[in-house]
Amino acid sequence: EIGRAGDELGVNLFVVGGFVRDLLLCRKSDDIDVVVEGDGIDFARRFILKKGGRCNTHREFCTAVMVLPNGFKIDVASARMEYYTAPAALPTVEMSSIQRDLFRRDFTINTLAVGLNKKNFGTLIDFFGAQRDLKDKTIRTLHNLSFVEDPTRVFRAIKFANRFDFTIGKLTLSLIRNAVKFDFFRKLSGRRLFSELKQILEEENPIPAIESLRNYHLEKVIHPDLIMDDSIIETLGAAQKAVSWHDLLYLNTPCMNWSIYFMVILKKCPYQVVKEICSHLRLSPSQTKLILRDRLKAEERLYILERRFPPTNSGLYALLNIFKPEHLLYIMACTRIDRVRKAVSFYYTRLKDIKPTIQGRDLIALNLKPGRTFQAILQSVLDAKLDGKLKNKKEEIAFVQK
Ligand code: CTP
Repeated sequence: EIGRAGDELGVNLFVVGGFVRDLLLCRKSDDIDVVVEGDGIDFARRFILKKGGRCNTHREFCTAVMVLPNGFKIDVASARMEYYTAPAALPTVEMSSIQRDLFRRDFTINTLAVGLNKKNFGTLIDFFGAQRDLKDKTIRTLHNLSFVEDPTRVFRAIKFANRFDFTIGKLTLSLIRNAVKFDFFRKLSGRRLFSELKQILEEENPIPAIESLRNYHLEKVIHPDLIMDDSIIETLGAAQKAVSWHDLLYLNTPCMNWSIYFMVILKKCPYQVVKEICSHLRLSPSQTKLILRDRLKAEERLYILERRFPPTNSGLYALLNIFKPEHLLYIMACTRIDRVRKAVSFYYTRLKDIKPTIQGRDLIALNLKPGRTFQAILQSVLDAKLDGKLKNKKEEIAFVQK
């Protein structure tokens, strides 16, 4: 339908990039990117006018996001000759608009396009050897200045290599080493660096990618004093186990998995260094609190758990109930003591959601006066319940009366 609209408006349309790559790799893809040879914003507006839905435009980038009436989202970009004056790297004079658009992209595997107009509907277009590299399982840049143009691509190379279990091509690898050696990252904003890093840490198994970051000395881009030794890698492995355990059992519980890996990476850094990293990467105040203050609290509680194992459930609850899932999983990752890990998972699965059955109004009914003592009473009911001493509301009431 979108192709037909293109024909009616006299513009060429292509599906491009990750969607086509994932299609050929038989992987699920969430985003669909369309490139219009012409004015993408104009196309998106007209299409939505005809078909319904919404359209958000970004004039600056000549892009639009169309949300169709069924909620389906399509990113639309413009490929127009006049946009391609900038980068000196590109000998693009005799290329078509779509070819130039694809040539500006990061890796060959991301340069596939599929025609949507009637004349070429469904035709796979491969200008730069993408199919060969998909088959060879190789990540390759399109030209030698790719990382000069955009150093975040170094992180993207690692992300894709890890995600698809691909190898980074020899020349591309030497370009990465060059980027590190000559510190192409100097001008990279903390915000963009964090965005790339977070994407890596959000992958299903980010550990090989983190090891690659270390192999290429990219941790120094995050902070010159950041050290990732073997014990950190080992702890990351434990973090991954904890995360998989949580994902499996609590699929619908929101949990920022990236933050657990990130906390492990920063584990050995002095407070001041972590503070500098959070500020350089422009973490939000709540992210900073999570990484800085709450993490230290988790380490403090872990220290207690490892030395003074609480004999009761209520003791365990008192130590852990201040934490979000992220920090409980962080504690599970950091301990080398099996009984501590088990205690945390026991807290998570069995104790965390226990509440007293009786409420304030039950206490009023018992002729008790509302106030601070209420909280203390409910707390002692909760403790007794956690320790298995109270089975039902009747027993809770009897406990309060006593
Ligand atoms: N791109 C690029 N350089 C970057 C970021 C993106 O050339 N620094 C290009 C890529 O070629 C990619 C397209 O922009 O195909 C869209 O970027 P993005 O949505 O991040 O890529 P996907 O391949 O869809 O990645 P993911 O599967 O992780 O969403």
